[in-house]
Amino acid sequence: MKIVSPFPSEFGFACVSVRDLGGYRPHPDEMNCLSPKATEKRRTEFFLGRLAASRALQALGVSPRPVLKAEGREPVWQDGVVGSITHKGDTAVAVAAREEVACGVGVDLESLHPAVRFRIHTKVCTGPEAEWVAEEQEKKDLRLKMIFSAKEAGFKAFFPIEKIYLGYKDAELTWREETRSFVGTLLKAAGARHPVGFRFEVGCRVAGPFIFSFASLPPLDSRT
Ligand SMILES: CC(C)(COP(=O)(O)OP(=O)(O)OC[C@H]1O[C@@H](n2cnc3c(N)ncnc32)[C@H](O)[C@@H]1OP(=O)(O)O)[C@@H](O)C(=O)NCCC(=O)NCCS
Repeated sequence: MKIVSPFPSEFGFACVSVRDLGGYRPHPDEMNCLSPKATEKRRTEFFLGRLAASRALQALGVSPRPVLKAEGREPVWQDGVVGSITHKGDTAVAVAAREEVACGVGVDLESLHPAVRFRIHTKVCTGPEAEWVAEEQEKKDLRLKMIFSAKEAGFKAFFPIEKIYLGYKDAELTWREETRSFVGTLLKAAGARHPVGFRFEVGCRVAGPFIFSFASLPPLDSRT
């Protein structure tokens, strides 16, 4: 299953699966970011993520540099570039953009199956989100995963900017069917440039066996 880029053409995007790995090995500097004790599953997802990152950078039209890892576990991209990685099962997706285009980007993949325990909505959802999730019995699981996935994509976009940790209830999402995206509102500041009340958009789709969420935040100098 190859996910097609939902981003505008100035973003670099790649979706890879284990079949694409062949003899691929991440750059030695990237390998240093992987624990020597990593399980086979972790090695595979790390390889997939780095391959997707490298292809996203190529698609962006820049010469790919190793994508390292910072203390908050976030990927560290080459100067002037922001990006995000997600992996699930045998698939990984990465997106990269120039800082003039976005100050942060986020992608997330979640499995459509199996169902999650509905109880986790108490950890993930604000009151209005929980109401939306519970509105239609047969859509409860899907909607809960959509909220969860969209929040992870949002977190990945915000965190690298000022290294502020946002918990699941530090943003509230409202679904817009017309655009198949959530409008998010920050309930906690994600730094000085992203105060409480800041609004952002997170797209969310079913893509084959996955729920796929994606976000990009406007460049910092485009705002007053
Ligand atoms: C960090 C987190 C988002 C990762 O999501 P996940 O579903 O477990 O895993 P994914 O495969 O989608 O993504 C993993 C990739 O995310 C990236 N990542 C990890 N920490 C990150 C961070 N702090 N900021 C940005 N990206 C991060 C890494 O590239 C990682 O892959 P790698 O280790 O192979 O490089 C999640 O574990 C987490 O901590 N969530 C809690 C915070 C949150 O989502 N709050 C919602 C606020 S609205």
